[in-house]
Amino acid sequence: MSRLIDVGVFIPVGNHGWIHSTNSPAVEDGSFGRVLEITKAAEVLGFDFVLSPAIWRGRKGPSEHWMQSLESLTTSAALLQATSRIGIFGTVHMTVYQPAIIAKMMTTLDQIGPGRIGLNLVTGSSYLDLSHVGLWRDGLNHDERYDLADEWIGLVKRLWTERVVSHSGPFFQLTEATMGPKPSRMPALANAGASGRGFRFAVENCDIAFISSGDEPKYIESGRQAKATARAMNKPDLKVYGLVTLIPGPTAEAAQARLEYFNAGVDMECLADIALGYDLNPDAKGVSASSRRLAGDGRRSAVTSGTMAGSYEGLAERVARIVVDSELDGIILIVPDYIEDLEAVVRHTLPRMATHGVVCRTRAPGL
Ligand SMILES: Cc1cc2nc3c(=O)[nH]c(=O)nc-3n(C[C@H](O)[C@H](O)[C@H](O)COP(=O)(O)O)c2cc1C
Repeated sequence: MSRLIDVGVFIPVGNHGWIHSTNSPAVEDGSFGRVLEITKAAEVLGFDFVLSPAIWRGRKGPSEHWMQSLESLTTSAALLQATSRIGIFGTVHMTVYQPAIIAKMMTTLDQIGPGRIGLNLVTGSSYLDLSHVGLWRDGLNHDERYDLADEWIGLVKRLWTERVVSHSGPFFQLTEATMGPKPSRMPALANAGASGRGFRFAVENCDIAFISSGDEPKYIESGRQAKATARAMNKPDLKVYGLVTLIPGPTAEAAQARLEYFNAGVDMECLADIALGYDLNPDAKGVSASSRRLAGDGRRSAVTSGTMAGSYEGLAERVARIVVDSELDGIILIVPDYIEDLEAVVRHTLPRMATHGVVCRTRAPGL
């Protein structure tokens, strides 16, 4: 039996996207114009959603990685207005805002694009990424940030559904709070906690958990584990989406040449700076291994661990295998060039996954 999955795009609201190299495609400049172009193209290509991360800091080093970046929710507002079907996920650090602020912004976003706004909830895992603009929440360790998150999202949901909300908890107080309009439907909620505590937050509060993916056994196993844990916690309908980074090419050799070109310009200063951001966490030992991997700990490559370079055809088989073996409900894609590569992947890779048991709703124009 085939598996129908959701397919989204992790949009590059910071320059260089997720390639830490002076040789990454210059066209990914992190500008709103480019992100708009990508999102409109993603809608035409039939992608189910785009997700913009919340970025607060650029990195040291010659590539000036993420030195230019957009705020996530204001970007989402403009993308909703410019599109008509595709789902748009914004991201917020729950440690930064009062829940009422985001609850209100989300109901406004739901008026702009009814039923299409979603929210990726993060607690912030790198001290430097937030502290340099005064946004690091002092006095809470890793798990306590998720305790705050539990209370935070509980209040947001109450403000979206109840007439009057009073609450007195360890982190937040509300006194006969009222909020209208209510959202047209509950916004989809997502989280990408890699730790056990983070994943528990996703199971208890969200519709979707993002996990890092790849075709190495450790990624396949963590996907399976995620679904098994959700079932064991009585949340079998939690959707698990894998974050998949692709470097595609017409042939395996062409794709490998692209990867080598990116690696030739790897920005080691940038990677060291990202790692330092985690090392400076007051509770540095609470930083998960997956978080460090994503950040580039010990890596000498321009791309994150799990990245797959290959021919369009070869990638179809590999991605389908990940989906089937990890029991994924969806994938979210990172590519080097978000117009050319997404078009190529939609034309040549995603349709071929059907022969390996995975069906996507994306459609290349003219097919
Ligand atoms: C798809 C995806 C999106 C993420 N988006 C953000 C983001 O926008 N901002 C951020 O600070 N962290 C982001 N993260 C990091 C996670 O929220 C999380 O902090 C990290 O995976 C470590 O897990 P932990 O918090 O359970 O230790 C993202 C991770 C993934 C896989």
